[in-house]
Amino acid sequence: MCGIVGFVGKSKQAKDVLLEGLTRLEYRGYDSAGIAVSDGDRINVVRRLGKVRRLVESIGETDCLGTCGIGHTRWATHGAPSERNAHPHMSCADEIAVVHNGIIENFAELREELEGKGHVFSSDTDTEVAAHLVEEAYDGDLLTAVRYATSRMIGAYGLAVMCKEEPGRIVVTRKDSPIVLGVGEEGSYLGSDIVALIDATRDVVILEDEQYAVMTADGIDYFDREGAPIEPEITHIDWTLDAAEKGGYPDFMLKEIHEQPRVVRDTLAGRFSGTEITIDELSLTRTELNFIDRVYIIACGTSYHAGLIAKDLIEGWARIPTEVEVASEFRYRNPIITPTTLVVAVSQSGETADTLAAIRDARIKGAKVFGITNVIGSRVARESDGVIYTKANKEISVASTKSFTGQVVSLTLLAMLLARSRGKFNQNQTRILFSELADCADAIEQVLQDTEQIKDAASVFEGRESAFFIGRGMGAATCYEGALKLKEISYVHAEAYAAGEMKHGPIALIDEGFPVVAVATQSPIYDKVVSNLKESESRGASIVAVATEGDTSICDVADKVIYIPKVRDAFMPIVASVPLQLLAREVAVARGCDVDQPRNLAKSVTVE
Ligand code: F6R
Repeated sequence: MCGIVGFVGKSKQAKDVLLEGLTRLEYRGYDSAGIAVSDGDRINVVRRLGKVRRLVESIGETDCLGTCGIGHTRWATHGAPSERNAHPHMSCADEIAVVHNGIIENFAELREELEGKGHVFSSDTDTEVAAHLVEEAYDGDLLTAVRYATSRMIGAYGLAVMCKEEPGRIVVTRKDSPIVLGVGEEGSYLGSDIVALIDATRDVVILEDEQYAVMTADGIDYFDREGAPIEPEITHIDWTLDAAEKGGYPDFMLKEIHEQPRVVRDTLAGRFSGTEITIDELSLTRTELNFIDRVYIIACGTSYHAGLIAKDLIEGWARIPTEVEVASEFRYRNPIITPTTLVVAVSQSGETADTLAAIRDARIKGAKVFGITNVIGSRVARESDGVIYTKANKEISVASTKSFTGQVVSLTLLAMLLARSRGKFNQNQTRILFSELADCADAIEQVLQDTEQIKDAASVFEGRESAFFIGRGMGAATCYEGALKLKEISYVHAEAYAAGEMKHGPIALIDEGFPVVAVATQSPIYDKVVSNLKESESRGASIVAVATEGDTSICDVADKVIYIPKVRDAFMPIVASVPLQLLAREVAVARGCDVDQPRNLAKSVTVE
């Protein structure tokens, strides 16, 4: 949700670093983009509506020269997407420049107060109050002025501020919004995400809430909220920039879909001792594990769907009642939580505001919280009692694919661990299950090799604006994710239903050629799914079935069949989700959509 970057160097042009960083952070928002660069005498600002590319195209060789600057790519919250609302925002005298990620909740009162003092605003954003607050307080020391401004602000912010009077200095701070800093050979760098600076350094500082950093060409100094110097903790990053590049694929989404066999293997690496599932990060003793009498999985969007799949596994194997809740609802619902409740928070970004708020709530109520996230050092990782990383590596495409697979595999391990700790599986059963789970990597590889059947299936969507996804049991949970993928990247309206529900209302929508995608793999309820499909077929639906290889009878009811290898029913979603991701992408590409950056969306949702 908005990306910010900053750079101070001795000789390298700041604009080159900023534009490169913004391009890498564009997944965080792409409504508008802008940079501010100090040339020593003044701060020059360029802002453009639309994607970073438009900004890059509009900055010429001789524009924005200088070695100190900040930049921003926006996902609009307060104030429509427009050039006037694009960041950086300036103070009245154009002396203070600010970029901000987050929401200043009390901006209306602050704006009124500042306007009362004569400040003139030139945008509709909440951010602009920060520039005027700093201007109001500035008395020769930018750090002091920024500390004053943040002491007045309520809400979330990742903030970088420059002042005309202090060229070569950027003051940075955060609250509930990520900021990463690092020093490279050419200078000091700042980003909302490690990808913005990974070219320059692998040793980064993940700024903590209400800490301040002062960047200069010689290095970065850190301060606590009182302004006292502090020694930061350095985090070493061991993944490479490949994750931020397409590697020959036409888009990040396709690249990331193809990474899924590796994600399964990496997520499982070191998780089986030969006799036991090992998740040491859970930091619960066997006795504590056995006391767990309720599990809540809290998450949003795709991560929520991973939770729905896990519910069946935890209840089925470990026999522990499990609720899966959308984080934004969980926190306002007063759920029943006791010290023997295990709350599992699932978030790719580890930044999602609703999930974080739910974690805090659950901990206050005494639950142990276990985080599953993809981002090292993220808030979900820091605020949970234990964390498992999904090993998807950086996911750039806004639509989650490989991180979903990492989440489902991690949750499956957790379900196995809970079942084993309660004596529901013996060692041999655990070994067999783990080995079959690992085999899913090969099964996904096989799906990825035969994409012709998916291309063919996509033809069913030609000229259609609506579709159903239906399945039963874990097939239904898989369909929720399939439908979300289709709607978010192709803008085709898609609804997922438990197949048995169709006749209770949704079937009224079926007419000739209406696309119905079904997960109809071999399972104890296969026949029920097929009879539900017949109900749709007889009303004219065009049916695409994801089925188990060798199942020829499915052709009697389905117009198009996408075969996947046979895997244990419990692991089917890990494999069956992949053709649904590919199908969504195929439909989106055919409709000319930007699959990596769908409209109105951003990769991490740091606002409630
Ligand atoms: C959809 C998608 C979103 C996210 C959701 C939660 O493809 O990516 O639905 O799953 O915004 O984000 P995280 O997992 O970062 O908490």
